[in-house]
Parts: sequence; C-alpha cells; structure tokens
Amino acid sequence: MRLGVIGTGRIGSQHAAVLAGRSEVDEVIVCDVDGTRARAVAAQIGGSAAEGTGQLYAARPDGVLIAAPTSQHADLIREAVRAHVPVFCEKPVAQSLAETVATVEEAEASGVAVQIGFQRRFDAGCRRVREAIAGGEVGELRRMHLMTCDPAPPPAEYVPHSGGIFRDCHIHDFDILRFVSGREVESVTALGANRGADFFAAAGDVDESVVLLTLDDGTLVTMQGSRYNGAGYDVRLEAAGTQGTVMAGLSGKTPVRSTEPGVVFPDDAPWAGFLERFADAYVAELVAFLDVVGTGAPVVCTPRDALEALYTAEAADLSRREGRTVRIAEVRS
Ligand SMILES: NC(=O)c1ccc[n+]([C@@H]2O[C@H](COP(=O)([O-])OP(=O)(O)OC[C@H]3O[C@@H](n4cnc5c(N)ncnc54)[C@H](O)[C@@H]3O)[C@@H](O)[C@H]2O)c1
Repeated sequence: MRLGVIGTGRIGSQHAAVLAGRSEVDEVIVCDVDGTRARAVAAQIGGSAAEGTGQLYAARPDGVLIAAPTSQHADLIREAVRAHVPVFCEKPVAQSLAETVATVEEAEASGVAVQIGFQRRFDAGCRRVREAIAGGEVGELRRMHLMTCDPAPPPAEYVPHSGGIFRDCHIHDFDILRFVSGREVESVTALGANRGADFFAAAGDVDESVVLLTLDDGTLVTMQGSRYNGAGYDVRLEAAGTQGTVMAGLSGKTPVRSTEPGVVFPDDAPWAGFLERFADAYVAELVAFLDVVGTGAPVVCTPRDALEALYTAEAADLSRREGRTVRIAEVRS
C-alpha cells in the first residue's frame, strides 16, 4: 500500500514512522507546508516528500493520514473524500460545531471511509473495560469515573485556540465513555476553576474541571481533569456495577501514591505524557486504519462518533458558563 501523511509535526512524524515500519506498507509519502520538515521526516523514515497535497494525490495514495493543525482538518478531510481516498484524521474533525456537522455530513454522503484519531478506543485497558461491561462481568453497570490530568499546562499561545478544557482534553473521555458503555450521554453538569496561570482565565478557559453526566440507561458518571497534575499524566477509566468494578489505567505507572501501611504502589515511574501512555494505542489505531484501507474493514471511530463527543463537550462548556445542567438534546438542536 502507498500511504500519504499530511502534517509532519509532533504526532504526524510519529504516525509516519509507524506506517513506514509496517510490512503491509510499501511507500509513505509525507507533505507539510514546512517543506524542510517534510523532507527531514521523509529521510528519517525512508519515505518521500511531496510538495503539497496536489502532488500527493497525483501519486494515487491508497489512504491518507491528516495530522496538520486542527484548523486545517475540515478542508483536508473534504479534499481526501473528494479524491475518493480513505482518510485517517487526527481529532477533532473541525474547530466549530457548525463546521464539524458540515464535514461529517459531506464525509458520510461521499461513502469514503473516514477514521478519526480517538486512540483510547485502541488502548488495551479501555477495550478490556468495554468487554467487561458487554460481557456482564461487572453485573449491571451503575457508575463510571474517568479522568484526564496533564502534568503541566500547555504553552500560553496554545490555550486561546484549544477550544477549552472540555473540547481539548475531556473530548477523549466523552468519546471513550460512549465506546465502552455502549450508551449515549443524556445530560451534563460541569464545574471549572482557575487556580493556575492567568492565560486560562484570559481565554475564557479553566485549568481544573469536574463533570457529572447521566447516561441514557441511568448510569451516573463523574469526571475530573487538570492542567496541573504534578504527579504525572493520569488517564483512568473505572466502571462499577452490581457484580464488580474494573479500571483501565491502574498500573505501576499510575501517578498516585497509596498511603496504606505496607502497600508499595505504584512501583514504577509515572507516565510522563500522552505519547508514552498511549504509544501502543497509537500503533493499534493505525493498524486498524490499514485494515480499513486494505480490506475495507469497518471504521471503529467514525466522524459521527467525533460529532457525538463534541456535542457532550459543547454541553459541558455551556453548563460551566451558565451554572446549570444541560441536556445533550439542547445542543444537538
Ligand atoms: N490523538 C491525540 O492524542 C493527539 C495528540 C496530539 C495531537 N493531536 C492532534 O493532531 C493534530 C496535530 O498536532 P501536533 O501536536 O502534531 O501539531 P504540530 O504543530 O506539532 O504539527 C502540525 C504540522 O502540520 C503542518 N501543517 C500546517 N498546516 C498544514 C497544511 N495545510 N498541510 C500540511 N501540513 C500542514 C505544520 O507545519 C506542522 O509541521 C492536532 O489537530 C491535534 O489536535 C492529537
């Protein structure tokens, strides 16, 4: 297979290296508005560099991967589906709700396979929670708890364009919640606090968050997030039912210390960030995409899934700003 990679920054260069290392991939062609960067990444992975997306599509790729900045995603997805080329695009689909809806509708109407990069769907621990719920191991699901806590804030200039903590960080929680529970979110109540740098408040954002959600079967969900989790990168997902409780993200690398006498937990260095924590999941999502391209396998994370997660993020943001519970039906309409 011949794969194209559009955007060779932090995540794009990592994805390009994974693709180049796969036996089912014969050639990787990268492109970037920064041609020097594209050529350097091409040299590193043993691929080639195209001058722009026009030259990339002229080479007739079997699939393309988009890892350009978020502001470019919608246009680049449209370009791929209009060229009838299956596409993997990093999350999110677009910057605004309106642009997301329009892009999802065009992608669906095209019939071209589009996978969105919510990599937690390919994390072994999260998948095991899904199996435990679907297989009845926890009994009847009653409660869930999720967290996404960053060890340190992003650069100040990133925050005003990030969409805020609910669209930028918790969007992964909102997506994995639907994937593992098999349920839809019905209502959201969100709280936020400004305890850190002034640039969060200046951007209308918060740096600490708590979210309460109700699913359509009555399951109650709590979430917490932080931009200042000094202990390390902490992403966990717990599901509790009438027969048992399971948790993803609980290992020797979980950034939490037990205070019980005689308990030595955890016993390893904490995860430093998402690239380390989800290294295997980033590979697994690309293997799944190659299966989509090569065999027409169904897409695990569709643009519609990304839109559903965005509805929850929109509801959380509205809830926090207006100090009230928001039903998903309100933002959907
Ligand atoms: N799933 C995840 O966990 C995860 C993690 C990190 C980033 N992301 C997403 O991946 C995307 C990229 O993030 P990043 O941190 O790698 O960004 P980055 O800034 O490091 O890299 C982006 C690259 O795209 C290039 N670029 C800009 N416009 C382009 C265009 N029109 N065509 C081709 N190349 C273009 C830039 O020159 C740069 O090299 C973002 O949308 C981000 O939300 C997802």
